[in-house]
Amino acid sequence: MLSFGHRGAMGYAPENTLLSIRKAIDLGASWVEIDVYLVDQQLLVIHDETLERTTNGSGRLSEYKFAELRQFDAGQGERIPTLQEVIDITKGKVGLNVELKGKGTAIAVIKCLASLDVKHKDSILISSFKINELEQIAQADSMIKIGVLTDKNADAAFTWASTLQAYSIHLSKRMVSQALVKRAREAGLQLYVYTVNSEADIRRMREMGVDGVFSDYPDRVLVGA
Ligand code: G3P
Ligand code: MG
Repeated sequence: MLSFGHRGAMGYAPENTLLSIRKAIDLGASWVEIDVYLVDQQLLVIHDETLERTTNGSGRLSEYKFAELRQFDAGQGERIPTLQEVIDITKGKVGLNVELKGKGTAIAVIKCLASLDVKHKDSILISSFKINELEQIAQADSMIKIGVLTDKNADAAFTWASTLQAYSIHLSKRMVSQALVKRAREAGLQLYVYTVNSEADIRRMREMGVDGVFSDYPDRVLVGA
């Protein structure tokens, strides 16, 4: 079962920072998951569209210029990273799952990935709850791996995964069942589950045969792997 470090390794370091991503790599995660927004024409790695929860700033990302956003402390002196910075530290080391959070991120991510060679593109997985962003990814580059995220409607996710020729389905742990694991296998889709932190839940996912889990503690997933 693959271990996806959730927002890096947010159980150990401030989420979505380079520190957190390095920690996930050091812990042996197979993949790192991050969240991105497009602000002032830059792709920024942050989960919320407001600053309060994860930085010492306040207000909406869209109220700021890129240079201003980079002044804020995202925890332990870390800055809000750019997608390019994350690519630079993950390339050749670990898979990178980019979750598109905000509007306009699909086209910007495609542009950012344009210079990557085929080998490294194979280690990128783009996921989103926003189907219209995923549609833009599929139209722009049919080779990029797409993951359909859902927290409520597995049927719709399977339908979209088929339409978009997706690589994977990413389900909330509340939704996953043995029947959905079987359905994913029959559809030729990888099934990944978020966010799985307790040892009991990790064991349950392994027993069910899911292909990977997102965890704030990616090292826990490797135990008994
Ligand atoms: O990509 C899996 C998971 O990160 C989705 O939910 O809210 O943690 O981005 P969230
Ligand atoms: Mg996410």
